[in-house]
Amino acid sequence: MEYLVKSGSPEKQRVGCVVVGIFDRRKPSTQAEALDTASGGLIASVMRRGDMDGKLGQTTVLHGLDNLFCDRILLVGCGKERDFNQRAYQRACRAAAAELDGMGGVDAAFYLTELNVKGRDDFRWSVKQALMTVEETFYRFEACRGVGYEKHSRKLARLVFQVPRRSDLPAAEKGVSEGVATANGVKLAKDLGNMPGNICTPTYLAEQAGALAERQAKVKTNVLEEADMEALGMGALLAVSRGSRQPAKLIVMEYMNGPKNAKPTVLVGKGVTFDSGGISIKPGAAMDEMKYDMGGAASVFGAVQAAAELELPINVVGVVAATENLPDGDAYKPGDILTSMSGQTIEILNTDAEGRLALADALTYVERNYDSDAVVDMATLTGAAVIALGAHAAGLYANNSPLRRSLRDAGEYVGDRAWPMPLWEEYQSQLDSNFADMANVGGKAAGSVTAASFLHRFARKLRWAHLDIAGVAWKTGKDKGATGRPVGLLVQYLIERAQQA
Ligand code: BES
Ligand code: MN
Ligand code: ZN
Repeated sequence: MEYLVKSGSPEKQRVGCVVVGIFDRRKPSTQAEALDTASGGLIASVMRRGDMDGKLGQTTVLHGLDNLFCDRILLVGCGKERDFNQRAYQRACRAAAAELDGMGGVDAAFYLTELNVKGRDDFRWSVKQALMTVEETFYRFEACRGVGYEKHSRKLARLVFQVPRRSDLPAAEKGVSEGVATANGVKLAKDLGNMPGNICTPTYLAEQAGALAERQAKVKTNVLEEADMEALGMGALLAVSRGSRQPAKLIVMEYMNGPKNAKPTVLVGKGVTFDSGGISIKPGAAMDEMKYDMGGAASVFGAVQAAAELELPINVVGVVAATENLPDGDAYKPGDILTSMSGQTIEILNTDAEGRLALADALTYVERNYDSDAVVDMATLTGAAVIALGAHAAGLYANNSPLRRSLRDAGEYVGDRAWPMPLWEEYQSQLDSNFADMANVGGKAAGSVTAASFLHRFARKLRWAHLDIAGVAWKTGKDKGATGRPVGLLVQYLIERAQQA
């Protein structure tokens, strides 16, 4: 898809489709009004007949427009004008995109970007948000279809985001470049997430890091093998991997495009390419979804790629702890005591709490090897995070308030939300063990918090945040699929870091 920005009147557009908004109750936007006037009252008559009331998400396509240059008009319901906020804008854009997806015509002029969105008064935001929503709607995972499958083909090839004045064009153009890079990062994360566990193994992820480095000259990768992990004493990560015939990989991707002495932002991802639970095996229902247990890792790939695509003048390091968690004669067991790279020992009470083990060693690796500005880890860590926040927000933990705030604001700005959760010391005693420095589970209460508290023990020396993305990384049910979250949040955070630098 080609994306452009332009400034010009809707009634003069010579395109396959002009997309304009209608507010509830039948109140045309300025752009719809211009079309109505030029067409001699066409839109008013459509509304009079009851085909478009302006309800949020409603759509109607008009054909056979004699007095206009365009082939079609797409009317998009935007809801009540005074309620037209970020969420409503996103829904209207999604409805428009769904129509455009199946429409004939190679190009469209998109005027929803000209609408006033409550609390957002910047065309960089409007264009970026619209573009990302369009890409989100157009996404399909077709890599694993077989013979006879007909791939989705879309007529639309060019989408023009409209802004009111020529002086708005530079902001809108920024929105396009940021939107395209972010959407590409989201797409990469979705593709990796949707890829099944028999293909997407730790080795596959390591290969994808190599492929990313080939696409982006400024990205360098280094993969630690199990022998390297052994030498470093990564007893926690290696224990998880023992039940699997697929070797674990610790994947490091460096994008160093900032000043030499600038401390890097480090992104760490849980890359459990399949989580059966191990010896503490999971029930069978929906176990297929545990192929998504590498969603944190996928978002690291997406964010690093986007940073490189945007040529952000900062230093970013991505670290992915990749392993499978399977039961086997050689698998780690409840009761086992592991020594982590940090030297702290861990009593295993449940082999299904494996993500924190893999991340513990990854965090120590980061602490020992980088003088970082901030370390942010992403993990589909606990079912408890899904219970606490559902699919609307990731759980956000941090040992530093400005970092917590920056991440939360970045997520809010791009509609990829994270919500603050406590990291209070009071929770730590839930991890007490009679035999080791800590247990790997903290009981039923506050499961997402105790998992974060466990990680905190390996991040004390870092300016650190943790996103529990178990509820947001994929959708279940009939729309099952990876979401690419929280790539949007991460890229926004990096963009803002680059602006401060
Ligand atoms: N990957 C899972 C968390 C998960 C479960 C995410 C379901 C999304 C949906 C993680 O490895 C896990 O199994 N966590 C356990 C921890 C428990 C044993 C303390 C959980 O949440 O049940
Ligand atoms: Mn698990
Ligand atoms: Zn897991």
